Amino acid sequence: MKRIFQFLILALPLTVFAKDGAIQNTMLEVYASFKDLQPYLIDSSRFEDAQNQKKIKKLVSKLSAELHGAESFDTKYRKLPGFNAQMTSLAEMLDEVNKGFETNSAGWSLWRLRAISNNCQTCHTGYGVDVRFTDKNVNLDKLDSLSKGEFYLASRQYPSAQAAFFQAAINPPTGHSSLEALRKWLIIYTRVNNDPQQALFKLDFILQKKTNLRPYEREEISDWVIALRRWSTEKDEEKDTLSKAESLLRKALDVQMPYFGKVGAVELLRSTALLHEVLDDTKLSDEKRRRALYLIGLSYSKLPLFFVNELPELFLEQCIREYPNTLEAKNSFKLIKEILITGYTGSSGAHIPGEVDVKLEELYKVAYGEQELKDQV
Ligand code: HEC
Repeated sequence: MKRIFQFLILALPLTVFAKDGAIQNTMLEVYASFKDLQPYLIDSSRFEDAQNQKKIKKLVSKLSAELHGAESFDTKYRKLPGFNAQMTSLAEMLDEVNKGFETNSAGWSLWRLRAISNNCQTCHTGYGVDVRFTDKNVNLDKLDSLSKGEFYLASRQYPSAQAAFFQAAINPPTGHSSLEALRKWLIIYTRVNNDPQQALFKLDFILQKKTNLRPYEREEISDWVIALRRWSTEKDEEKDTLSKAESLLRKALDVQMPYFGKVGAVELLRSTALLHEVLDDTKLSDEKRRRALYLIGLSYSKLPLFFVNELPELFLEQCIREYPNTLEAKNSFKLIKEILITGYTGSSGAHIPGEVDVKLEELYKVAYGEQELKDQV
């Protein structure tokens, strides 16, 4: 009996994490280019040195070509909502930077390129992919602890990322806060490790030992602690993953009182992870799929500081286009509109660029089924 058990444990990762060869190979190339770019991204004088520009441009083009290449692969991931859109969005951002090298300031290009790791992280932590990748030969001595964490998280080297972010939380590099590092750290604990007990243990340590935390940091961490405690004693009553995600989202919305600045981050990170799992199911009914698409967009819209900004719109738009003229499409449209208007509103009112207005109008028609009517006339 014992032997069979051991065999099962050994066999499990292979079946659960069946690798996708084409994507995996591309990712290894992407990783190599990403690694080669690091020395320029961490040192602005090296980045701005005219002698290096050709090399940087070449690396950026290579990275973009690799990502564009992956758009056409016939992979299981392609069917997942948002997968291709994220691949394209990152590749297009790189193209934009490369095209603008001569016209934009080096500071702007560097700022854009430094955001790459956030795109890699957002995609990886969404799809519960394999966690066994490590690169023993990478030398990150020149990076501070937070940048190390970003690099490791972008390339799915989770145990190293976890350690680096924890280090950064205890001793944040100049210009950064403990909370910034801990948010990334929390993603790993809630979505990769699924381990509230360990997270609680570590956060208790931070709250006790790090006496110079700012009050707002202490408050947010204490909110996480409450949620993690609840999680650690939670009984798994919900059988259905979608219902479970929904009840977590409801909990998060309950605690989200803008007046008190509460976020419900732990519940939202968990609910989005579960919704990804739901959307992963190719046999999901249309009714559940459109609900999950709307709910994942809604959840991400409440988690702005954790992933790339455009993530909520990506799922909401998918919901509208896949399920026009449904309640969920209409709700998705209302939410996209709200996100965009808030995003473009400054002290002098809303300044929505023309192209965004056109897009909103188009989405409105699809969401409310007016497109088809017009086509029939
Ligand atoms: C649109 C989604 C997406 C984006 C963006 C993305 N990846 Fe990946 N990555 C994946 C998927 C999916 C896998 C898992 C492939 C498999 O094993 O089936 C993966 C796997 C990896 C792996 C592990 C390869 C292995 O041998 O197990 C590394 C390393 C990696 N990605 C690095 C990166 C880096 C660095 C970036 C950003 C520059 C990035 N990825 C951007 C989806 C993405």
